Amino acid sequence: MTVSQDAALTVRGLHAGYGGRTVIERLSLPAMVPGRLVALVGPNAAGKSTLLRAMAHLVRMRGEIRLGGIDLARLKPAERAATIGFMPQSLPDDVSLSVLESVIAAITVTAGGGDGTPVAERALDVLEDLGVADLASRTLNLLSGGQKQVVSLAQAIACAPPVLLLDEPTSALDPARQFQIMCIVKGYAVAGRIVVAVMHDLALAAQWADEIVVLTRGRLHGAGPPADILTPGMLAEVYGIAARVERCSEGRLQILVDGVVPPRPIRAAAGGQIEPVTRREFR
Ligand SMILES: Nc1ncnc2c1ncn2[C@@H]1O[C@H](COP(=O)(O)OP(=O)(O)OP(=O)(O)O)[C@@H](O)[C@H]1O
Ligand SMILES: [Mg+2]
Repeated sequence: MTVSQDAALTVRGLHAGYGGRTVIERLSLPAMVPGRLVALVGPNAAGKSTLLRAMAHLVRMRGEIRLGGIDLARLKPAERAATIGFMPQSLPDDVSLSVLESVIAAITVTAGGGDGTPVAERALDVLEDLGVADLASRTLNLLSGGQKQVVSLAQAIACAPPVLLLDEPTSALDPARQFQIMCIVKGYAVAGRIVVAVMHDLALAAQWADEIVVLTRGRLHGAGPPADILTPGMLAEVYGIAARVERCSEGRLQILVDGVVPPRPIRAAAGGQIEPVTRREFR
């Protein structure tokens, strides 16, 4: 199977959920193209992880997910693993493999495709690139939350897939690691891959993403460049917050949350005055 270099990832008429429960309904997204980093944002339980899992074919789904001319639902598991690198929101707790073994496993599941370099060497290279080679012989279960998160990213990028789906890749990281990992993730996109990253930190999303896709209640609220999407109106409507969006001295967007807005008048208020519920009113 060959993926053309300019193949876009498209989602059309997607329904996804668990058992009898539908979380994503009739969702269509703007095409996600190689070279651009897409941040997927939205409130808790909006369906972001479910959408990523559906794109990785890990939950019940119906609808169309294509990469160029390839229908991802038709791929064999090894082909899908080689095409889509998926980083879950959290790793399972019961993995007793070493860090190196876990990355080797992530490479071998793709049927060993590669440039002939021994798999262990490739796995070590990935760990080195991410600055965690010193963890290679440690047991995955016994790592800190941030260490686990970086190793999980190593597993997702280990076989250099053309599509990378990252579920909150930096939520457990300190600011320095956050910056390093976002540099690597952005570099991955700039190198011509499709990267979709779920993010809750909207300023971080604005700093790194080329496009922001906003999901709420399993539906698309909006998509576009950060400056078009991150507005006080969107923040009130989607997150129920009264917030200012301002540029810092470097020109980057900052989100300053002043309070929450009551859910009822949001739509009317979003276009005009929003009365924040202040901390004092909660007492
Ligand atoms: N394994 C599961 N089985 C049943 N329902 C689930 C499962 N995982 C998630 N859900 C439900 O699906 C809905 C969407 O969850 P999802 O994890 O996609 O949200 P999210 O946008 O990623 O939220 P968060 O920002 O909190 O991670 C929620 O109502 C959640 O309770
Ligand atoms: Mg999630």
